[in-house]
Amino acid sequence: MKHLAIIPGDGIGKEVIDVGMEVLDAVCEISSFDYDGELFDIGSERYLTTGELLTEEDISGLRKKDAIYFGAIGDPRVKPGVLEQGILLKMRAVFDQYINLRPVTSWFPFVPLKREVPFDIRFLRENTEDFYMGAGGTFSGSRKNASVKIKRELYELDMELRTNSSNGDDFAFEIGLLSKKGITRFADYAFSYAEARGDKKVTLVDKANVCTHIYGMQRTIFEEMSREYGIGLEYMFVDAMAMAMIVRPETFGTVAVPNLFGDILTDLGAQLQGGLGMGGSGNISPEGVSMFEPIHGSAPDIAGQKKANPIAAILAAQMLLENQGYPEEGKMLRDSVRHCLDNGLTTPDLGGKLTTEDVGKAVCRYILGQKK
Ligand code: NAD
Ligand code: IPM
Ligand code: MN
Repeated sequence: MKHLAIIPGDGIGKEVIDVGMEVLDAVCEISSFDYDGELFDIGSERYLTTGELLTEEDISGLRKKDAIYFGAIGDPRVKPGVLEQGILLKMRAVFDQYINLRPVTSWFPFVPLKREVPFDIRFLRENTEDFYMGAGGTFSGSRKNASVKIKRELYELDMELRTNSSNGDDFAFEIGLLSKKGITRFADYAFSYAEARGDKKVTLVDKANVCTHIYGMQRTIFEEMSREYGIGLEYMFVDAMAMAMIVRPETFGTVAVPNLFGDILTDLGAQLQGGLGMGGSGNISPEGVSMFEPIHGSAPDIAGQKKANPIAAILAAQMLLENQGYPEEGKMLRDSVRHCLDNGLTTPDLGGKLTTEDVGKAVCRYILGQKK
């Protein structure tokens, strides 16, 4: 019996997680997988009522679980960054989910490119550092003594940067920070992932021609790791990578990408699979609690309209099952998505006429039909 935390969150997060849970229930009926799901009321509604984001109580409850199944957060009534940093990024940091695995796999022959070609890219997005440290500030040109404090228990990092002025709004800055420890574990994960998959190279995406300090250090560590593993290393600048993903997606396998560029490239990757409603992801904590979620957000523009494509959430459930030791059940979910695509059982974003719930029902019917 697996103990799962369920966090539907906001907007279409709730709609797609409802479907995801029905699908998991169907998997329970026909396989040895079994779970209990505890619902966590974390998101904008609670924040607007009580001011709470991610509380200590939430954290200790979540820590007891085998995995977290998450929908999305984000609400137009709340200033950008409050929920994102206070809930989602905090969970990734607290549980040290330092790898964000985002597969970009074609549903060949359904490929939204002129050239129909199968591809299977595994983006490993570093998930705790880079420009996501929340380290920044503002200052004015005339006053002195502003400081930004970065405190990270994960790395025993306690650092203070002083600028020469404070309390102003003439300048704003955001620090992109990488640690040797963070890069080393990221590189190690990437090469062992490539090794397990039989990939001959790891592609490292960066902008080492501009952000020379952080990405220069990252290259050095990846080079050492490449030698240790005896697996090749290829560099791609992120701008060229965006182009190459469209022109020759089939030439990539394991792709390591720092946090911010990874966020951007994987939305592009989702579109290569049909749209944002097709991208699942796993925030992996090799030693702690991992969290599985669609890569899309709360989509306020379509929330409450039954239009949300639940496939990304179903693919996140697939990744959860695989991570928890149920690869066959995971594959069944993937097959059920294939079945829906082949039969036009889709939401409007993929040209279909079904509602979110109807796609869920089609997936459940398929799964229940697999009973031996
Ligand atoms: P979004 O991903 O919510 O939506 C972008 C576009 O894609 C919208 O037009 C939306 O309708 C469409 N879309 C997204 N998911 C879809 C689905 N499953 N089916 C059909 N169409 C889908 O991104 P946004 O609009 O930039 O952000 C909205 C809010 O979500 C913001 O507050 C943002 O911070 C937050 N956000 C949260 C997460 C997360 O929780 N992991 C991820 C991204 C954005
Ligand atoms: C994602 C989202 C988040 C990110 C936001 C909501 C903080 O865009 O999961 O891709 O930037 O990582
Ligand atoms: Mn994103």
